[in-house]
Parts: sequence; C-alpha cells; structure tokens
Amino acid sequence: MDVVRVELGDRAYPIHIGSSAVNSLREWSVPFPRRQLVVIADQTVADLHGPRLAAALPPDAVTLTFPAGETSKSFTAMERLCEQLATRGIERGAAIIAFGGGVAGDLAGFIAGTWLRGVGFVQVPTTFLAAVDASVGGKTGINLHAGKNLVGVFHQPELVVIDTDFLATLPDRDLRAGLAESVKHAVIRQPDLLDRHLADIARIAARDPQTLGELIAANCAIKAAVVAADEREADLRMILNHGHTIGHAFEHLLGYELRHGECVALGMLVENELARRRGLLKSNDAARIAAVLARLGLPQRLPRAVGAADVLAACRIDKKVRAGAVNFVLLAGLGQPVRVADIADAEIEAALAIVAAGG
Ligand SMILES: NC(=O)c1ccc[n+]([C@@H]2O[C@H](COP(=O)([O-])OP(=O)(O)OC[C@H]3O[C@@H](n4cnc5c(N)ncnc54)[C@H](O)[C@@H]3O)[C@@H](O)[C@H]2O)c1
Ligand SMILES: [Zn+2]
Repeated sequence: MDVVRVELGDRAYPIHIGSSAVNSLREWSVPFPRRQLVVIADQTVADLHGPRLAAALPPDAVTLTFPAGETSKSFTAMERLCEQLATRGIERGAAIIAFGGGVAGDLAGFIAGTWLRGVGFVQVPTTFLAAVDASVGGKTGINLHAGKNLVGVFHQPELVVIDTDFLATLPDRDLRAGLAESVKHAVIRQPDLLDRHLADIARIAARDPQTLGELIAANCAIKAAVVAADEREADLRMILNHGHTIGHAFEHLLGYELRHGECVALGMLVENELARRRGLLKSNDAARIAAVLARLGLPQRLPRAVGAADVLAACRIDKKVRAGAVNFVLLAGLGQPVRVADIADAEIEAALAIVAAGG
C-alpha cells in the first residue's frame, strides 16, 4: 500500500492508497472506541459498497445517504443531513466519513466543517476524480443557483483512504472524467505523467489496481505538495485551477449535464487556446495535450451551444475573480502555469470557438 502525507503541521494527515486500503479504517478507529462515526454516502455508492465499508468500521457507525449527483451539493441536501445528525445526537467529538465521489466529499466535508462548528472528517473516495483530486486538500462546499462551490469552508480531513477495489464498479464515463484532473496535474506540475496516461491506457481501462494505485499516488503527491505549500490558495494553489475558470462556467451553464471532469477537459482546451493565441503556449504543446485528452475519451466539443456572453458572466461570478478581474491559470509551456488576469472578453470569445458545438 502507498502512503502519501499532506504536510500541514499539526493537521498533517496520511493518504492510504491501494487494494483493500479500506481496512486501514479499522486501525484508525481503534484508538477511539467511543467516538461517534457517521458515514455520509451517496445512495449509489452506499448500495454498491456500503457493506464493505461497514465491515471496516465499528458496528455502531451510522450511515446517512443522499441522492447521487451534483444537485445534492445544495443547502437542501445539507439541511436534510444536518437534521438527521441532530436527531441522532451527534456530538462534537464525532467524525464524519465521506463515502462516494467528489460530491460526497464536498457535501460531507462542508457538513463536517460546520456541524457544531466543526467535527472530525475522513475521506473515503470512490471515484477516480475524488481519488486523484477532490479528497485531498480540504476544500469543501456546495453550489448555489448562481454558480458552483460558492459556499464552503476549508476543512482538512484527518485521514484519506483510497481503496482501488471500489473503482471496479465505476462507470467508464466517470473514470474518463477523473483522468481529466490527472492530465491537469501533469500539465501544470509533472509533464512526464502526460504520456504515462497513454502508455497505461489499457491497464487503466481494465481497472488494474496496481496501475490505478500508482497513478493515484502520483497525483496525490502532486496535490499534497501544492496544498502543503499554500493551504488557503493565497498563491501557488491557484495553479490547480487550470482549466477550471472556463470549466466551471460550462458545468454551470450546461445545468450539470456534463461531469465536472468533462468540463475541466473542455476548459483546458479553451484555456490552452487562449494561451496559444497569446503566444504563451506553443501550438504543438497545445495539440499534444488535446490529443491526450481525446485518446482518453474526453469530450472535444460542447454538447450544445453556450453563449459567449453567458460564459463571460459565469466566469465573473466564479471565485477566481480578484480585484474585479477574472483570473486564469494558463500554460506558458508544459509544467509552467502562469496566472493571467488581463484577458479581454474578445479573447475568450475567440478561444471558445475551439470547443463550439457541432463544429
Ligand atoms: N474539493 C475539491 O478539491 C474538488 C476537486 C475536484 C472536484 N471537486 C468536485 O467534485 C465533484 C465531482 O466529483 P465526481 O466526478 O467524483 O462526481 P460524483 O461524486 O457525482 O460521482 C460521479 C458518479 O459516480 C457514482 N459513483 C461513485 N463511486 C462509484 C463507484 N465506485 N462505482 C459506481 N459508481 C460510483 C456516483 O454515484 C455518481 O453518480 C464536483 O462537484 C467538483 O466540483 C472538488
Ligand atoms: Zn476540478
């Protein structure tokens, strides 16, 4: 089993990665025999894998579920779950265990960060996306009608357990969506990882636990290092937003019809086009990244038309606006992210053509 540590002083925590890693939850819970444990799981994941998780936890651990999908990152879902915590008398010493994809992590993490002003938190991600990205770093939150992730807190987990066996049931589409975040990590931080996606494509598709474990560990190491250097996104952590300024706008404007990772892939295509047009990114590097995303089966075009004015408006409500300017993390080359805040509307409009529907 691989262990990656997120070095955050007295809030440092390990990420356990591998086949049967879920059993490490048993060791973690032994020192706290009387601690209240509450699993917050998406219903699909609870149905598929709940018994395996329960077997690794003390018998009195409670499980609460919510409907799978992005629409559960809402005040409505949160309120329902918190009312259940109240009914069950969940106290300050409790720990909440997120069980599912990035939606479970963001929703359960926000609850863990705010229930009684904050209780313990553990992440047990079951999607590839949550394993390589969302479960690490302590960002939690929910969406508003106005936009994604607008309400949330930083709340670090005390443990992350990534059991690659859970990924056996993950639909291909969700596996591909998660690969988009792995490609993002490669292009901002470790370009040699880019080709590894292609070299391992068959083993990844076959859910080979060793290949998945190694790729997840490489991604967690990248994210852990960035988070340890800049937990609250004052500076370096912003590089993780590559592809996300446009990606979040697409996600929101398409009514969450596409997966987060799919929108990030489209967002990277547009943002690389912006960088290419500015002379920051070489055409052949942009083409190479686009080719990897295409080989991994990620979308190349929007499923339907999205108005440029709507994209601009959605970018402006995103958290990446600072001092009134929309922030982009563009590539000035592979492994060289740069922050750019002076992109004109016309540049965005022009770059959007690269993913235009039906083109
Ligand atoms: N907090 C962060 O740092 C961070 C980072 C990246 C993404 N995110 C957020 O994560 C979310 C996307 O996460 P996601 O792609 O995991 O979506 P998700 O949680 O909705 O999971 C996708 C689908 O896969 C199903 N599923 C999960 N595990 C499964 C399994 N093992 N077998 C079968 N089905 C399974 C779920 O029920 C769901 O239908 C977005 O809301 C995004 O904003 C957060
Ligand atoms: Zn993301």
